[in-house]
Amino acid sequence: MKFPFIVLIFFLATLFASADKPVKIFDELYRPQFHFTPEKNWHNDPNGLFFYKGEYHLFYQYNPYGLEWGFMHWGHAISTDLIHWEHLPIALYPDNESKDKELCTAFSGCGFVDEGNITGLQKGSEKTILLFYTSQKCGQRLAYSNDKGRTWQKYEKNPIIAFDETDDARDPKVFWHEESKQYVMVLYRKPNNDNKQKGVSFYVSKNLISWTFKSHLPGFFECPDLVELAVNRRSDDKKWVLFDGDGSYLIGSFNGEKFIPDSPKMPSDYGANYYATQTWSNIPEADGRTIQIAWMKGGEFPGMPFKGQMTFPNELSLKKFTEGIRLVRKPIKEIELLHEKGDKWENENLIPGINKNLTRGVKDDCLHIIGNFKIKSADSFGFVLRLDKKDNGTELMYNVKSKTLSCMNKSAVIEPVDGVLKLEILLDRSSIEIFANDGKVVMSSCFVPTENANGLYLFNTGGELLVEKLEVYPVRSIYDIKK
Ligand code: FRU
Repeated sequence: MKFPFIVLIFFLATLFASADKPVKIFDELYRPQFHFTPEKNWHNDPNGLFFYKGEYHLFYQYNPYGLEWGFMHWGHAISTDLIHWEHLPIALYPDNESKDKELCTAFSGCGFVDEGNITGLQKGSEKTILLFYTSQKCGQRLAYSNDKGRTWQKYEKNPIIAFDETDDARDPKVFWHEESKQYVMVLYRKPNNDNKQKGVSFYVSKNLISWTFKSHLPGFFECPDLVELAVNRRSDDKKWVLFDGDGSYLIGSFNGEKFIPDSPKMPSDYGANYYATQTWSNIPEADGRTIQIAWMKGGEFPGMPFKGQMTFPNELSLKKFTEGIRLVRKPIKEIELLHEKGDKWENENLIPGINKNLTRGVKDDCLHIIGNFKIKSADSFGFVLRLDKKDNGTELMYNVKSKTLSCMNKSAVIEPVDGVLKLEILLDRSSIEIFANDGKVVMSSCFVPTENANGLYLFNTGGELLVEKLEVYPVRSIYDIKK
């Protein structure tokens, strides 16, 4: 009997030893460390984004039953800094007690704070929060909360826009249009089931409940968003920006009923995984930012308990360039909350064969890299990210002659400014987001890096490159209790 007794002691000792160790959650091999993911299962689009009383709310298309799309519910999380997320219970369930994979499930939509109790749904002192969503093949619907978004009721007279089998309508986004003093809903629709008509419809309302169709603009697919942005930060020069599901956008004017474009449709992201963008509503004027997040559609996370990740939140603005006004996107400044002590370099001349890798001391899988590179006579230069011991990794390269920035089979043309290319990179365990020249060109992509490859290589293939400035910060995990 001696042997089993020893085994038992050993077993108990191991059990207590491991109970003593702090268990690091959300620490799997490909688990993003500073991008939003649900603990487990499939997610897609960000939904219902609003800010209320110090809390940013993030909902998302969620399948609680598995790693594939379907059975859509709205998952829910809140944050006070857009960085650390507290997971809350599921906010929206399918309608009509549907158990179907699609029918009456809770598709995408938006969040809106009913400041003036226009709907009359307010009960106590908290403003009513409205979630407009599509109940797939069951019409556009409304749910609301009277307790700061903690619990949700379905509006009893749903749907607020009846299901029409000829238009495949979905993904409502609602906002207040000051100039015409009415609420506006942009809604993806395919009128008459005509593929050529796929686009955005504009509806208006005085009470947030009954909606009147005003106009339709073809050439769009899913998840529209419409925001007004200042050009070059001038409050007297504003333009409307209409986003498509893939993040591409039109700049133009909007009178409350009709959008008139004055630009061609342009991509806002050149990477492989940027989709279903949405901006937060009700951000206080004192903050004044327009903040967007997107689903990194198509990302792979082999062996992980979750499937999907969001981008890092971006601040949007419009900027005038010689070729016209363009959207620029920058990661929100809150990223600095996660900076560990970094490394900095200034005015380092890189000549191939002479300099060793400047960033050889970097050993981390999550980084925030900010650099200004004076091209001088360089042919091409860039970084190898997640470098392993055999010098393999994921390459991000700027080709000076073709003026192309490329990473993982995706590329974009970008001109240096006064001979300088600026690069800002967010590297997480399964994504790379590159913001070139202050966000004029952005590339957001997922990747599956090699395990334990934590190096960083700054290369220059020929000629001289002046590293005017380079900062590399390890990024602390949002799951790190030290926060
Ligand atoms: C976009 C989308 C939306 C729809 C949702 C369903 O990714 O197809 O149009 O509401 O996802 O999950």
